[in-house]
Amino acid sequence: MDTQTMEAKTAENKKTVDLQTPENTDTTDLQAPENTDTADLQTPEDEKNIMIRAEGLVKIYKTKETEVLALQGLDLEVETGELTAMIGNSGSGKSTFLNMIGGLDRPSAGKLWVDGKNLFTMSEKELVSYKRDTVGFVWQNNGRNMLPYLSALENVMMPMHLSGEAKKKARALELLERVGMDHKKHSRMNMLSGGEQQRVAIAIALANSPKLLLADEPTGSVDMATANYIFEVFSELNREGQTILIVTHDMALSKKVKRVVAIRDGKISSERILKEQYADRVREADIDWRAEDTQIEYAILDKAHRVQIPQELIAELNLQDNKVKLSVQDGSIIISKPD
Ligand SMILES: Nc1ncnc2c1ncn2[C@@H]1O[C@H](COP(=O)(O)OP(=O)(O)OP(=O)(O)O)[C@@H](O)[C@H]1O
Ligand SMILES: [Mg+2]
Repeated sequence: MDTQTMEAKTAENKKTVDLQTPENTDTTDLQAPENTDTADLQTPEDEKNIMIRAEGLVKIYKTKETEVLALQGLDLEVETGELTAMIGNSGSGKSTFLNMIGGLDRPSAGKLWVDGKNLFTMSEKELVSYKRDTVGFVWQNNGRNMLPYLSALENVMMPMHLSGEAKKKARALELLERVGMDHKKHSRMNMLSGGEQQRVAIAIALANSPKLLLADEPTGSVDMATANYIFEVFSELNREGQTILIVTHDMALSKKVKRVVAIRDGKISSERILKEQYADRVREADIDWRAEDTQIEYAILDKAHRVQIPQELIAELNLQDNKVKLSVQDGSIIISKPD
């Protein structure tokens, strides 16, 4: 293999080979994070302005028959002001992660801070105000946070904590304008199209000026033109400083984002960074974004120095079992088949 051995080239969620642990199912290998740490996030992370910090995050769903390891020691840092996209195959843990950050579900182990708040040690009461003030959530199925028989305007005003109807109304109108829905402010939600509802859902999520906007496949059930419009709303919000984490299956959209993290089997496997020459071009409509090679892709080394190697690269080795040889050559680590 060449010097790009450690550079992930391909899509997420293929079978991976773990360089250190033969049994990937072994949960004791998750660096079982201690939750003794009760302090909120302090320097030096504060200095770096970290909005999200997940360390060795684990989520286990227990059902009657079995346990599902939805997050398997996920590490991720997102800085304030970033627009980050998250991709990954179905079942890889994207919604689980978003739900943890959104305070909708509790992690099983690991560490998680959002805006300096420790999600692990937060009381139920603190969690209520966290959900109200710190995060805004846009779901794929937007029915979750709106009332169908109220108007768009009433729906946006409803979660607001501003005092006084006039102030609420002014803010709601401003938000509806932001998402291009002011002309339908008096329409009932169930009279709006899916794309229009989704735009109102973004306004609702922004009602209390959250520090972090989370969106779980917000363009999953709308047509391409609407998807582009919605993406442009997110981009514009981000340009104004809004921190956004968005899960998407849409290749064309993810290729326009400065940073895309890929999740595979409940861990971050690789990360793509927008090439500089595309940074100012993301608003150009005449580019076929799917066909463009806009980002550089890196594999991610986790805290235990493990890396997930894409199946395509592993296939090149034609391995007989799960053993590989590691060596260093000219500053590169070479992974090769045993002699
Ligand atoms: N409440 C739950 N109870 C049991 N298992 C769950 C629960 N929620 C999620 N899981 C399991 O956890 C894993 C991760 O699910 P998750 O919904 O996070 O995937 P996803 O990446 O969002 O997938 P998709 O792209 O299909 O939305 C899956 O194996 C799923 O079946
Ligand atoms: Mg999901």
